[in-house]
Amino acid sequence: MDIGVLVSGRGSNLEAVLDHIDRGAIRGAEVRVVISNDPNARALRVAAKHGVKGLVLEQGRSSREDYDARIADALQRSGVTPDGGLVLLAGFMRILSKPFVEMYKGRILNIHPSLLPAFPGLNAQRQALAYGAKVSGCTVHFVVPDVDAGPVVVQRPVPVKEGDDEEALSARILRQEHKAYPEAVRLFVEGRLRLEGRKVRVQR
Ligand code: GRF
Repeated sequence: MDIGVLVSGRGSNLEAVLDHIDRGAIRGAEVRVVISNDPNARALRVAAKHGVKGLVLEQGRSSREDYDARIADALQRSGVTPDGGLVLLAGFMRILSKPFVEMYKGRILNIHPSLLPAFPGLNAQRQALAYGAKVSGCTVHFVVPDVDAGPVVVQRPVPVKEGDDEEALSARILRQEHKAYPEAVRLFVEGRLRLEGRKVRVQR
């Protein structure tokens, strides 16, 4: 399966997925392209280190729809097609337009650093601390036009500890993200995810 990854920053989730592919823990999949909206994203260096093509696509003055159409074009040229590919959002700090989400319907995954539907949007770890939650975690979900609202594929809980600051909690959650995302990708690539309304059934 041909995978495209959209990134904006550090790229640690990208790295986790690439590591799993490299060591054969995810079989039958290749990351064909990593697309960043930020030319300085560390994720581009992660891609280069793994011999994966990296592209910078900046929005500039284009509308969201036009920009997303350029992303779709770049994905398809790299073989990541709406009928057979998989698009991963890995710290991609933009909201995708409806036409893009519709085009790749059921073939876009995202990872979010909370147990959705708690704490959607930005700074989820900070939100969990401010709320006084005792447990948070991470969620891999299918992408739908509404932000952080799609069907849940994998969740991993993480305790919030007394005295945690945002950095400590984020680091604890991130360690689980690096397991959850590769697991979700593996299940998708193996064809074991069935979407039933807003539920995801995982087949044995
Ligand atoms: C992660 O915490 C992810 O859950 C969120 O953005 C962060 C990206 O980190 N969507 P990285 O770029 O994968 O290191």
